[in-house]
Amino acid sequence: MEAKSIAIDGPAGAGKSTLARLAAKKYGYIYVDTGALYRTVGLYVMRKGVGSKDTEAVQRLLPEIKIEMRYDDNGVQRMILNGEDVTEEIRQPIASIYASDVSAMAPVRSFLLSMQREMAEKYNVIMDGRDIGTVVIPDAGLKIFLTADPAVRARRRYEELKAKNVETTYEEVLRDIEYRDKNDSTRSAAPLRPASDAVHIDTSGKSLEECLELIGKLAGERLGL
Ligand code: DC
Repeated sequence: MEAKSIAIDGPAGAGKSTLARLAAKKYGYIYVDTGALYRTVGLYVMRKGVGSKDTEAVQRLLPEIKIEMRYDDNGVQRMILNGEDVTEEIRQPIASIYASDVSAMAPVRSFLLSMQREMAEKYNVIMDGRDIGTVVIPDAGLKIFLTADPAVRARRRYEELKAKNVETTYEEVLRDIEYRDKNDSTRSAAPLRPASDAVHIDTSGKSLEECLELIGKLAGERLGL
């Protein structure tokens, strides 16, 4: 299945999840949001009161964590942490900082890798994250690297969170994005970077429709979709 897979990487707020969700619907693919896996681990670490930079303590917690991904009737990915649905809770801004911090740890990355690869082996997936084209599915038939100006990304993410009634401010979201951009791209374990064969799309000045059309064209050329 991997050759038919679509990998989308890029920083927070570049439009990955919105575009991946719509494209998955169009092509009958399964959309896998891999950031949700790191957020779920981050949430567990936070609940345990363990420091998000304490690699040894985080590593000791990993055997206690059982994560399941389920899809509801609308195709929405639900995250189950030790039997509890944490889909909404992992969207809290504090969970994104924990996610970014624990995602820099090699043991956390290998803990989550097999789950992601299994999905890509079993299904036609459109998977988004930071290292999908470089590490998780290096054989993906189409790799896209999405970017946008930090201010544009912060504005989008702020509107998204506001719509979900998450309490935050634009300034807080911008700080979060700048922190994670630096953290995610400077870590040594699978840093955020484009695969050498990824197609770059800057979504800053583009509408959703324009981006979807571009992806549709690429999916047609590369995967015959
Ligand atoms: O996509 P997101 O914003 O929900 O991801 C949350 C954090 O998880 C992000 O700051 C970095 C990390 N992450 C990662 O390291 N690798 C991935 N494939 C996906 C997310």
